[in-house]
Amino acid sequence: MGQQRWARRWRTKGLCFVAFILGLSACASLSDPSEPAHGSDPEGVAVSPVEDGDWPIHGRDFYEQRYSPLEQIGEGNVADLGLAWSFDLGTMRGVQSTPIVVGGVFYVTGPWSLVYALDARTGKELWRFDPEVPKQHARYACCTVSNRGVAVDGGRAFVGTLDGRLIGLDVADGSVIWETLTVDPEQPYTITGAPRVVEGLVVIGNGGAEYGVRGYVSAYHVDSGELAWRTFTVPGDPSKPFESPAMEYAASTWNGQWWKYGGGGTVWDAMAYDPELDLLYVGSGNGSPHARWARSPGGGDNLYLSSILALRPATGELVWYFQTTPADTWDYTATQHILLADLEVDGRVRKVVMQAPKNGFFFVLDRETGEFISGAPYVKVTWAEGLDAEGRPIESPHGDYRHQSRMIHPSQMGGHNWHPMSFHPGTGLVYVPALDISTPMGFDPDWTFQPGRFNLAIDFEEFAEGGGEAEGFLLAWDPIQQREVWRIAHRAPWSGGTLATGGNLVFQGSSDGRLVAYRASDGNKLWESPAGTGVMAGPVTYALDGVQYVSVAAGWGGSFPMGMGEVAARARVRGGGRVLTFRLGGTAEVPPGLPWPAPPPAPVFQLEASEADVAAGSSLYHAECGLCHGAAVIGGGSLPDLRYASTAVHERFQQIVHAGEREALGMPGFSDRLSLDQIRQIQAYVLSAANAAAAGQKSD
Ligand code: HEC
Repeated sequence: MGQQRWARRWRTKGLCFVAFILGLSACASLSDPSEPAHGSDPEGVAVSPVEDGDWPIHGRDFYEQRYSPLEQIGEGNVADLGLAWSFDLGTMRGVQSTPIVVGGVFYVTGPWSLVYALDARTGKELWRFDPEVPKQHARYACCTVSNRGVAVDGGRAFVGTLDGRLIGLDVADGSVIWETLTVDPEQPYTITGAPRVVEGLVVIGNGGAEYGVRGYVSAYHVDSGELAWRTFTVPGDPSKPFESPAMEYAASTWNGQWWKYGGGGTVWDAMAYDPELDLLYVGSGNGSPHARWARSPGGGDNLYLSSILALRPATGELVWYFQTTPADTWDYTATQHILLADLEVDGRVRKVVMQAPKNGFFFVLDRETGEFISGAPYVKVTWAEGLDAEGRPIESPHGDYRHQSRMIHPSQMGGHNWHPMSFHPGTGLVYVPALDISTPMGFDPDWTFQPGRFNLAIDFEEFAEGGGEAEGFLLAWDPIQQREVWRIAHRAPWSGGTLATGGNLVFQGSSDGRLVAYRASDGNKLWESPAGTGVMAGPVTYALDGVQYVSVAAGWGGSFPMGMGEVAARARVRGGGRVLTFRLGGTAEVPPGLPWPAPPPAPVFQLEASEADVAAGSSLYHAECGLCHGAAVIGGGSLPDLRYASTAVHERFQQIVHAGEREALGMPGFSDRLSLDQIRQIQAYVLSAANAAAAGQKSD
């Protein structure tokens, strides 16, 4: 059965369908007509109550376009942009936060789910809130301890914490109004995404599909923190009652004993709310484990993995879905930015949802019905041959790594990851922080589920080998023609989210440590500033007292810088989180970044070890340490590069790694997982990599 047929069958159960055939404008009339409506789309339909000078919602307005009409800074004068203020986030970990700016206050989050409220004019700290996340929880964060931001509404700021809490803060002083646990603390869930407030409810998902969890999204009452609803994205144990007809239906697309491994489908980032249609769109993630032959051995599409789900915000009921990667086996999430727009397609204005999910295809869907409008590969794609008429990817034999490992495009990093894109209504283009990265994938047929650990059923030795391509670029994409209009290549992948403005500008931070302004229409570079660290988050713009500001939360770190080794090191930047805010004529100095170190000297410390020890150490290292300290022991600039470890560190290697004596600093202890002898083998491997680097050889 094709996915569209399923979608259609499902839709007939939804109210939306009834409204649709009656010719009503969707499931309308639910938005409050008395609500102020400042932002508007080209047809004059109210989009969201956004003042031009604010950045009140994660993606600026309900459409999450990351477009601001502000035009004081434009293509003619952007060259005069200078730093107005900076704020030190005091971290070497990855910064992914989109600030919220309302009422002259600038709310930004840092690693470990810290919240900062700053004076938006000066950067002066008003208050900070530290939820005191247990540092050991970092072990369950596939992609570091980052946080992507708060939601602010009705005098409260809401933050999801790494260890799965949702907290409502008083914006006056950062004091806690309520706090609720959104996850089972026995399970390896994490929250890194920004909540959204939708009609009196705070909506939040979570991550953890690499470790073995079941994905869901929940909504809590803004006043009390009480749970209003929870919608799972994948079915649970079929011997128990299903939570909804949607789950029962989904279960028919799975087999084996997936629920024992969680199944995955976590909602760890994108959401968007359309007040007119009264639909909340959320993106679901990859399968858990990654390899489908271990997860659902008899086949099936495994709904609702890697899907855009349209939910009724009052109840969480599923109205329609579109699965971007049926039967995902490549870690292709559809949690990437969900962007709404009204586009004229074939002479008709269509209400669309756009997404560039990890799988490499750019999708344009009808957001009332989930119907596929168009799609095309926006980066190199080898796992699929194309899309069929209903938008379902046609798998290619090359994507099948079950019996033979393959070099797959895009990699698990995706053709595009969490870094937000933007849409400029003037140029009609979507600006995508794109990635052309390939990765070898191999299936591990001997995989068995290990609670709390990485559970991918992927052969890790393949990762260690690396190889293949790794490019990153800013892509200007025409979503109607489904074609590239221009691109800007970057020195290293993993550059930042984008911002489009009324001044015909697109701003993007780069992985190699700059904030850059391009002309939106043709990509001409018009201005750049050093950032002192790699930039990954999306910039924002706001205006106060007649002055327009452009701001970005910078700070290298996270899955790519920590785990990708040599490719990440190509950016030549180190961690060093800071907020940088610019205005015309600003004269402050960007704080310098940490210098890139010279090659490591040969370690003085000696350890007696056989070649077999080193080989065993390599496997263990890549299973337990490489995610944070870099593939092949090559640090990407964020966490310590172990090839540089001093004699003093090597002398305390067991205490650091086994006993966890630096746990408070974010280095977890491994006494529950690794024996002293295994740690000795890892140390032997680390030393061999350090010696190889000192001798000018590439480590293996
Ligand atoms: C979740 C991320 C994470 C994982 C996984 C991890 N580390 Fe670390 N490690 C860190 C952080 C953060 C630090 C820096 C702590 C500090 O500031 O001293 C660190 C520091 C270290 C240090 C001290 C380095 C120095 O020069 O000061 C050693 C040694 C080390 N780790 C070894 C390991 C080994 C071996 C493994 C695998 C068994 C491992 N780590 C896994 C995060 C991690």
